[in-house]
Amino acid sequence: MRVLLGVCGGIAAYKAAAIASTLVQRGVTIDVIMTAAAQRFIAPLTFASLTARPVYTSLWDAPERIPHIRLVREADVALVAPATANLIAKLAAGIADDLLTSALLAARIPRILAPAMNDAMYEDGATQANLRALQARGYEIVDPERGFLAERESGMGRLASPERIVDALDRAFARRRSLQGKRVAITAGPTREPFDPVRFASNASTGATGIALAREAALRGAAVTLLLGPTLLEPPAGVDVVRFSTAQELCAAALQCAVGADLTIATAAVADWRPAHASDSKLKKSGDALTVAFEPNPDVLAALGERKGNTFLVGFAAETEDHERHARAKLRAKHLDAIAVNDVAGERGFGTGENELVLLWGEDGRRELGRADKATLAARLLDAVGELMRCS
Ligand SMILES: Cc1cc2nc3c(=O)[nH]c(=O)nc-3n(C[C@H](O)[C@H](O)[C@H](O)COP(=O)(O)O)c2cc1C
Repeated sequence: MRVLLGVCGGIAAYKAAAIASTLVQRGVTIDVIMTAAAQRFIAPLTFASLTARPVYTSLWDAPERIPHIRLVREADVALVAPATANLIAKLAAGIADDLLTSALLAARIPRILAPAMNDAMYEDGATQANLRALQARGYEIVDPERGFLAERESGMGRLASPERIVDALDRAFARRRSLQGKRVAITAGPTREPFDPVRFASNASTGATGIALAREAALRGAAVTLLLGPTLLEPPAGVDVVRFSTAQELCAAALQCAVGADLTIATAAVADWRPAHASDSKLKKSGDALTVAFEPNPDVLAALGERKGNTFLVGFAAETEDHERHARAKLRAKHLDAIAVNDVAGERGFGTGENELVLLWGEDGRRELGRADKATLAARLLDAVGELMRCS
């Protein structure tokens, strides 16, 4: 395992050396990034000696290797200890004005922050709001502890113990391996149901949820097939992509790819009906009303449920009212192992960056995954599904 360790300019910077030493003794490879302020508290030499690797201090050294991208691509987890109020504020605002902030902004790996600062700095509304915003974006925060601070007084803001920080890393490592060797199929995006060569009935799905899940499953070691409908969003690197347009195409592809997978997650927004007749040529504008008759599409989720064998099958229910009752009915009727209830009322859901999910399973299993961006929800969903798969 490989850790990117960020060290910021606070009194607790010296404690990062002990954490680095503990990790090295456990066989972890560590790349250290120090901020300019951190180097006022502890010398890069300490970390270079402990890790037997160069220490990175500038965005501008060896730019031909684009260090902020390379370092996060090569690492499994990024940890910042200590994280200053300044770094936390910059990350919350998306500022990338040095190597550490640029690398963290570019990271798709788990990011853990261990704040340490004066109690008033920690309790200030700005710091608290920034920490909450980062948590909602998927950062894990290892809360500081109450104790003796550098100002010779006691308060909340002491760096968490090395044991708590290493525990957080262990949990992140375990997540990274949680789908190793598993085959995962994910459906995503809308369907298009044509009624002439240039017109179709569709919906507002962008596929963002399924794409986030595919990326997260691949990061956790799975061999992922993403069945992707028409969308402008790019599929993630490192997954097999099968394109579909209509519900019938999706159904055929899903039965081929998803049956036999260890885990199938169906997020695609499948049209329930399609035009009964599609004209071969573009319908001409006549000034008259146009009536299009619709006929039912195949029920892709039900078809997967009937043939699922040992596959763990997770559906999505996009509901605008009485969410959980409808979702539980769908869970039972379609032989699903779990269902994520997707609240598409108001501004959440389709085409938005954020969502709010509840996962339901069995007779009364229920876990709130909270409101967050889709990448964070994908990680929470795969954590929960991983636990259910291990128990089933
Ligand atoms: C003696 C001294 C101790 C400091 N300790 C902390 C600290 O524990 N936590 C913190 O957030 N800032 C602390 N600061 C302030 C930071 O060093 C300052 O905000 C700096 O800009 C942080 O830069 P960085 O986030 O790029 O490392 C301290 C400053 C000084 C002079």
